[in-house]
Amino acid sequence: MKIDLYDPASFAAGHPFDQYAWLRENDPVHWHEEPDGPGFWAVTRYDDVYSVDRNFQAFSSEPTIMIQDAPDQQQSFGGYKMMLMMDPPQHTAYRKLIRNEFTQPAATPRTPRMQALARRIVDAVIERGECDFVSDIAGEMPSFVIAELMGLPLDDGRELYKLTEIIHTAPQALPPGTQLGALQKMFEYGRGVIAEKRARPSNDLATKLLQAEVDGKRLDDIEFLLFFLLLVDAGGDTTRNLLSSGLIALLERPEKLAWLQADLAGRLPSAREELLRWCTPVIYMRRTARHDVELGGKQIREGQKAVMYFASANRDPRKFENPDVLDLTRSPNPHIAFGTGPHGCLGQHIARIEIDAVLTEVLTRMDGLEIVGAPEWLASSFISGPKQMRVRYRPAPRLAA
Ligand code: HEM
Repeated sequence: MKIDLYDPASFAAGHPFDQYAWLRENDPVHWHEEPDGPGFWAVTRYDDVYSVDRNFQAFSSEPTIMIQDAPDQQQSFGGYKMMLMMDPPQHTAYRKLIRNEFTQPAATPRTPRMQALARRIVDAVIERGECDFVSDIAGEMPSFVIAELMGLPLDDGRELYKLTEIIHTAPQALPPGTQLGALQKMFEYGRGVIAEKRARPSNDLATKLLQAEVDGKRLDDIEFLLFFLLLVDAGGDTTRNLLSSGLIALLERPEKLAWLQADLAGRLPSAREELLRWCTPVIYMRRTARHDVELGGKQIREGQKAVMYFASANRDPRKFENPDVLDLTRSPNPHIAFGTGPHGCLGQHIARIEIDAVLTEVLTRMDGLEIVGAPEWLASSFISGPKQMRVRYRPAPRLAA
């Protein structure tokens, strides 16, 4: 089996599940070559991924969670970094600033508003009878939600989201300077938010962040901007990709979709968890060994990289019965699509509400929904999902005025 988990081309038709399976069975902690880099350990079994993610004493999130070491503009801001790339206790202090906004009790009361947003998103396309599911529906939700959380106009959320997409695109695919320009626009916008929320504080996350203190010190502008970038970033493509690839999984299995639609409210919770396991939008997170450590019988040396492949862990037969069957009733479902340990996804409760709200609108209102042509998949080795997916359905009236 040819193994290449580095080349984005390996992910251009979805996760390379055949490679994952071979690695899990034959070389679960696999030494992987890296062009222009020192190489990395690819970790593919559930128990190993789980223990690397939890064991921050041995596996650090610094200097970066991307495989490539070279600092790019997203990872290096004059010594400042996002909390995603910090270790405890520094990470703990930063995460504490916003964690209360993301608990289940804090997220649940947002449900009616998110349902209203989902209704509005479907309203915007329902009369047309066709749209691009990725950008017109799945991508709209997280961009609206981040605007809501931050206390910004919804249309601004959409603009910010477009900027993150440019920042994420492989630089060679864009005219020179485009990415830097997008990052500058993002930061300019963030500076506007700082000015606005300092002048008119309100009950939103942006104001709370500006008033928060780490070690008795308020966040400075760059720290705020990095939080801002992380939040816009982390909740965007992830939720979008889960919705789009989850819909593909359902439409490919009409009998399972019919079963789900027969009692959507009752069956969605287990179905949504299974779609998270099945699609696993975040392909990997990297850690770096702080000291020599053994993993799955291999000796990992201090300074070497260990890369956790979440979708492989989620198909590990040691953990899941019939892992290659989409079982919408699966319970328990200890999938690791949101990671685990100190960095485990902060937005997971919000994400679940977003997913349920959108799928409910789509599956109850868009009759005769079908994909037109083949969805175009993102060629990324970091995040998995279609980037474009035309759909057709029976036109219907809007619900809102
Ligand atoms: C289906 C949707 C989502 C998926 C699959 C997902 C997945 C993940 C994963 C795998 C991580 C890294 C966990 C680890 O290293 O163990 C993460 C971190 C994070 N996620 Fe999500 N995420 C989703 C939605 C969201 C949303 C909606 C938000 C915010 C509104 C969000 C905010 C974050 C933040 C802030 C972190 C960094 C946490 C830290 O470093 O402490 N995510 N997410």
